Amino acid sequence: MKEITHELLSSFRAPAFPGSFFLSFEGIEGAGKSTQITRLKDYLEKEKNYRVLVLREPGGTPFGEKLRQAILETKTEISPLAEAHLFAASRSQLLTEVILKELSVPNTIIICDRYIDSSVVYQGHSRGLGVAEVLEIHNIFPLNLVPHLTFYLQIGVETSEKRQKIRNAPKDYFEARGIEFYKKLVVGYDLMHELFPHRILKLDAEGSLDSVSSAIIKAMENMINTNREGHKELLDDQE
Ligand code: TYD
Repeated sequence: MKEITHELLSSFRAPAFPGSFFLSFEGIEGAGKSTQITRLKDYLEKEKNYRVLVLREPGGTPFGEKLRQAILETKTEISPLAEAHLFAASRSQLLTEVILKELSVPNTIIICDRYIDSSVVYQGHSRGLGVAEVLEIHNIFPLNLVPHLTFYLQIGVETSEKRQKIRNAPKDYFEARGIEFYKKLVVGYDLMHELFPHRILKLDAEGSLDSVSSAIIKAMENMINTNREGHKELLDDQE
């Protein structure tokens, strides 16, 4: 396995479009991503007057939706390397066709339901391809663009299982892999949090939906205010 170097980690950065933000949500099945994304979208639109777009991965473009079906509904095993490249292909199409264009419109917030961290955790760590290997696949523009902020909703494997039983939805290609795979996902997400501590905000999602929403909104407020301050300083400097 390749080494995770500082140079590799520092090649990832958030896109720079003044006044616009790129966010992602991560977590294992049952962490509550969909609910929190809907709540955050509502808040940002109604309270902060942002134009908010929610995208999902894999998917988000006609080509990406085809890849989504190809991967998640496959009846035969795909190699972790092939998986990583398929997800990266869907992601680069999404970046070119949607994310970069939409972020160039001021006052836009894009919320992605899963992004690069899913590839590192699922393909790199849990499927065994290697963390550095997956990061390296992304070490080319525009795949090296990462969200300004990633909300990692952390739950344990037991909570995930309980919530999945209540939902009783059919299991996809990854969900059917069982408890050992889920345990590796939790370790993988923790590792990503250690590698990108500033970008990834780890939130305890075992408790109430409201406590998680409050923490998300607080972090958003901070980010918006810090960005305004920075922008103001820039303007002041120019005067
Ligand atoms: P989805 O139905 O969107 O799952 P969830 O509701 O849990 O978000 O299916 C996406 C599945 O694909 C999920 O099991 C995680 C997996 N995945 C990867 O393995 N790598 C990736 O890069 C992405 C984006 C998703």
